[in-house]
Amino acid sequence: MIRLGVLISGSGTNLQAIIDAIASGALDAEVVLVVSSKPDAYGLKRAQEAGISTMGLIREVYNDREAADRLIANEMQRAGAEHLVMAGYMRMVNAPLLDAFPDRVINIHPALLPAFPGAHGIADAFAAGVKVTGVTVHFANAVYDEGPIIAQRPVEIREDDTLESLEERIHAVEHELYPQALQLIAQGRVSIDKDRKVRIS
Ligand code: GRF
Repeated sequence: MIRLGVLISGSGTNLQAIIDAIASGALDAEVVLVVSSKPDAYGLKRAQEAGISTMGLIREVYNDREAADRLIANEMQRAGAEHLVMAGYMRMVNAPLLDAFPDRVINIHPALLPAFPGAHGIADAFAAGVKVTGVTVHFANAVYDEGPIIAQRPVEIREDDTLESLEERIHAVEHELYPQALQLIAQGRVSIDKDRKVRIS
């Protein structure tokens, strides 16, 4: 069993997938605290409905990014979080948070990294006309959308896809892959080798 702190900014469908996977027994974890970079994020409601403690941060908190991350690190540690899970968290994580949770901050990205990093992974892949994109779960580091890759799953872009239909399929894959990748961590099967590559045992 691992204790997770989840970072969100928006609707929290990935958070919901994690909550549901825990409830069904597919993910051996507990969510101890959900922190949102936006106080009105719908994901906070999902957390509260599941009986999880929450903290919503107003924009001004991020005026000093390092101080914001020190605050988040403190709250997460106080809640007993062992790993931090970024689930649609639209802020950088900075040194205070990464240092407090070394190789224990996990992110999901809606493209096959290192292709299409950044805030618009789905739209960028669609606009580029690639035939395959997908979903990546990886450890976060100081560089946006970089860091050792834990799991990836491809999603085909079909001839009749619109951006909306592609988004829908990508999100469905995210909701499967994130709990599965977290379960590998919960089972102690994920390690990072000397070349900074993830090994799954
Ligand atoms: C997901 O597509 C995630 O990969 C991206 O932002 C979206 C978050 O959705 N970084 P939600 O808040 O989990 O519904």
